[in-house]
Amino acid sequence: MATILSDTSRTFSEYLLIPRLTRSSQRPDLVDLATPLSVVEQNQIPRFSINIPVVSACMQSVSGTDLSISLARQGGLSFVFCSQPIEEQVEMVRQVKAHKAGFVTSDSNTTEETSIREVVDLMRRSGHSTVAVTSDGSATGVLKGIITDKDFWEFEDDLDNKVKQHMTPIDEVIYGNDGVSLRDANELLHKHKKDCLPILNKKGNLVALVFKKDYEDHRRHPLELLDDSKRLCVGAAVNTHDYSDRVPALIEAGVDAICFDSSDGFTEYQMEGIKWIRENFGNAVVLGGGNVVSAEGFDYLVENSLVDFVKVGMGGGSICITREQKGIGRGQASALLDVVQRRDEYFKETGRYIPICSDGGLGNDTQIVIAMAMGADFVMMGRYFAQTDESPTPKTSINGQMYKPYWGEGTRRAQNWQRYNDGMSSRQMMFEEGVDAYVPLVGPVAEVLETTLYKLRSTMVNVGADSLSEFREQAILTMVSEQSVVEAGTSTVFQFSSNRELDNSDWGNRG
Ligand code: IMP
Repeated sequence: MATILSDTSRTFSEYLLIPRLTRSSQRPDLVDLATPLSVVEQNQIPRFSINIPVVSACMQSVSGTDLSISLARQGGLSFVFCSQPIEEQVEMVRQVKAHKAGFVTSDSNTTEETSIREVVDLMRRSGHSTVAVTSDGSATGVLKGIITDKDFWEFEDDLDNKVKQHMTPIDEVIYGNDGVSLRDANELLHKHKKDCLPILNKKGNLVALVFKKDYEDHRRHPLELLDDSKRLCVGAAVNTHDYSDRVPALIEAGVDAICFDSSDGFTEYQMEGIKWIRENFGNAVVLGGGNVVSAEGFDYLVENSLVDFVKVGMGGGSICITREQKGIGRGQASALLDVVQRRDEYFKETGRYIPICSDGGLGNDTQIVIAMAMGADFVMMGRYFAQTDESPTPKTSINGQMYKPYWGEGTRRAQNWQRYNDGMSSRQMMFEEGVDAYVPLVGPVAEVLETTLYKLRSTMVNVGADSLSEFREQAILTMVSEQSVVEAGTSTVFQFSSNRELDNSDWGNRG
């Protein structure tokens, strides 16, 4: 007969934290959110850590180049999706590694002969107030000048005038030479009181632009996740079919961490893949396994000390219908608690601390806080990032509201790439495990994360914790009744206006 567990499958929203002593020296901005992504041997420093406990899901509609860059700049890590040909995934990883923070490719360009009317239109479409004037109107043409919205008056000047009548011509433009360091480029901006510095090669072609606002942004975000060569860090997902080709190509491109992307990692296929990677690349590569939802699954993946971190979750994802389709999975809180308890025992037995990632089903900031309190070392999120400006999907207007498409990796849409790759038709998929949906657009990653992380830091202070490890140790959680959920809301007062637009406490309702 089947074994029936005595405990119920629980979700994060069924728990609350109890406050503990806050010391007068504690402040949210002093809280340290750094967390390991690689196994921590007793009293040793982990090989790889991230500066905030947040990674983005291995999904087509989430982790592309732009999101990977923005998240690393905030201190987190993206796992670029593997549901695409190897060369395309490798190219994304390369682009993140090649991204020179502060040097951007000019994406609003024009020519000297273009009319001011067209420049006004270009500025409106791009949202940029500085436009490079090049010989052929491209981002790499010979620079002829710079035109900004301060160089003309839209309602006074003749809009049929040519750009060359208004621009700052090249002989008056302050520029840097290709190869200049970011520090020197910023110094030039400072010295000449400029907002934008073009970088030119020896032939006078435009190579990049450096903006004062990016320097200020960098100062505001000192947690950037950089490798030893000061390049942004990026992760990548792999599958159990083509890892022997994919992993070497990703490592060659400079990837910082790899994880298996699977809804069920408690399989011999995954173990074969893990062993192959360790045999061929040793411990140099940071390697995650999963997903599992039980102590038994955790034990299987850490057997023979093979994985660095373990991902937990099955069926909780916002676009996930695995539980309905197959009757398998586990409430995310129960899964996490079971695995964390086993991880802690394993640490006592072996002296090896295995970071745990809670993956999927985090519907609001509170749930992130509870997941971290329950013992997750970091969380993986899909919907949260799909909603941001930087996710790879186009902004779409529906009934006057802006949305972004978001679809599961278990949908036909996501699996279609294989039709073109190895001839496997998506029609061979007997059923889908995910849905194809839309999520409301919420703005740039930096802004959304700022609120979330502030709440996390603030709650950590409420329980007297200065670091995530202290938070896990100090946390006391209680289960909530249905009535206490009602009490926690604002059901007994009427709200005529609200600032919810500024708040990230219920991502699903943001417009
Ligand atoms: P979210 O943060 O709740 O949107 O969940 C994201 C997580 O859902 C991912 O990291 C995956 O673990 C999982 N996931 C992605 N695609 C699918 C799918 O099609 N079916 C089931 N789970 C999925």
